[in-house]
Amino acid sequence: MKKDLLKLLDLSQEDIHEILDTADQMKFSQKHRIAHDHLRGKALAMIFEKNSTRTRVSFEVGMYQLGGHALFLSGKESQIGRGEPVEDTARVLARYCDGIMIRTFAQAEVEELARKASIPVINGLTDFAHPCQVLADLMTVREKMTRLEGLKLAFIGDGNNMANSLIVGGLKCGMDVSVACPEGYDPDPVVLDFAKTAADRKFELLRDPAAAAADADVVITDVWASMGQEEERAVREKAFTGYCVDEKLMKLAHPGCMVQHCLPAHRGEEISAEVFEAHADEIFEEAENRLHAQKAVLYLLMRDQ
Ligand code: CP
Ligand code: NVA
Repeated sequence: MKKDLLKLLDLSQEDIHEILDTADQMKFSQKHRIAHDHLRGKALAMIFEKNSTRTRVSFEVGMYQLGGHALFLSGKESQIGRGEPVEDTARVLARYCDGIMIRTFAQAEVEELARKASIPVINGLTDFAHPCQVLADLMTVREKMTRLEGLKLAFIGDGNNMANSLIVGGLKCGMDVSVACPEGYDPDPVVLDFAKTAADRKFELLRDPAAAAADADVVITDVWASMGQEEERAVREKAFTGYCVDEKLMKLAHPGCMVQHCLPAHRGEEISAEVFEAHADEIFEEAENRLHAQKAVLYLLMRDQ
């Protein structure tokens, strides 16, 4: 049966570890120039209904390095933008390609695409989830801290796609997760329900960023207005006052605490310029690890197609 990567809720802890271990091997192979072209002759269709820099480039380069090919389909320029049903697009692409990566708005659209396509579907970001990014984040934290289990992850900001995926990914990997967000900007109820079931780990939903950051091993933030929320920007800037990851907040964290940001970052809003620059090496390592983590996902999902 084909496998998809639609959201981290669908993966077990073992699945996540398999991806992270394979990602480490991918990174090692690339650094030592060991060819890993197991997807030779295979093609990945990449559908983008939202903007992207990292996701597009890392998937395209990743497929190239694995010996395959990636093709870019923008929502606007393909027939998707003119209303061709997802189920028809799925059945057509499955006849040309060996996998589909999609970035869009509704999670339901990605789930529907996966149901109708006979080839693996990878979620490259929806309003609900950003699983590929969080796999890269977990990889980066494990690389620097040598483990995930028992560490405290603090997410400060909007209860958006990143918060949702970090809560699920962090808890599944044995981390304690504290989220601080203003009232009205909570993570998705499905994710909060999942968090209640992770009884062996500590999960907190707080309003106070200082309480969330206290003794954290990794502090993570993301934009206050995600793609598609541009018109809410002014309202959100007001609602998120006091939620900036700055030096004062970082002083409360564990010494040696890491900072992660999926990028693009808005300095002076969700993160101060000082904290961003002080942790730039970790943040750009995280961006690099998108490539390695996604190569692992592509390999594990598409090798048998
Ligand atoms: N972090 C991330 O997904 O970046 P892009 O929007 O540039 O793809
Ligand atoms: N939450 C952000 C992440 C961008 C990579 C967004 O959805 O726009």
